[in-house]
Amino acid sequence: MSINIAIDGPAGAGKSTIAKMVSARLGYIYVDTGALYRAVALYITENNISDSDIPSSLKNADVSLGFIDGVQRVFLGDRDVSDMIRTPEISMSASRTSAIPAVREYLFSTQQKIALENNVIMDGRDIGTVVLPNADVKIFLTATPEERAKRRYMELAVKPDSPSYEEILSDIKKRDFNDTNRTTAPLRQADDAVLVDTTKLTLEESADIIIKIISEKVGV
Ligand code: DC
Repeated sequence: MSINIAIDGPAGAGKSTIAKMVSARLGYIYVDTGALYRAVALYITENNISDSDIPSSLKNADVSLGFIDGVQRVFLGDRDVSDMIRTPEISMSASRTSAIPAVREYLFSTQQKIALENNVIMDGRDIGTVVLPNADVKIFLTATPEERAKRRYMELAVKPDSPSYEEILSDIKKRDFNDTNRTTAPLRQADDAVLVDTTKLTLEESADIIIKIISEKVGV
């Protein structure tokens, strides 16, 4: 039986960076499910698909995940779109289109299959509640919106035309609202998830806390 660790939480809480650190230390596969929703959003944008046509068009999207040297890549057909999906426009579009039940159904089996076949740390919004309800360990990772916006601002500040702190904070709050208030699989802490608030923690401290929680539960 594979070991499954679910990490959910809002945008910018540090899920992907921390999950990567933890999976490297445990030798598990890190699965970033947000990349799947982003790839669907890219497919919808590139093909100008209207909201009403999204459910019927998904059968042609051909979204898949691959792992190259243990690093996840996401594909539309044969095309590796892993880098193209990291724009603010795709972030916002993924947040909007991920509320559509047909999109969530379409990506459900891809996520479950990987977890069935591998020891995984899977991050997202509904992993502990919907995708892997029987996960061995569930973590809900959060931080205040202001701290998350500050981190994102520091990351982007070195780039030309980077958005202001206020713009980033407003985007984060909009995405939090969308992700938390949608009807299907909203972002919420599973009843049996452990809450880790990273507002005052470094990445290393957060990773250490999570490793400790995992080793207490599954003895790794
Ligand atoms: O984790 P991320 O920021 O890359 O995710 C992009 C969007 O995809 C996010 O706003 C909500 C959605 N998402 C989701 O609904 N369920 C998941 N398991 C992962 C992401």
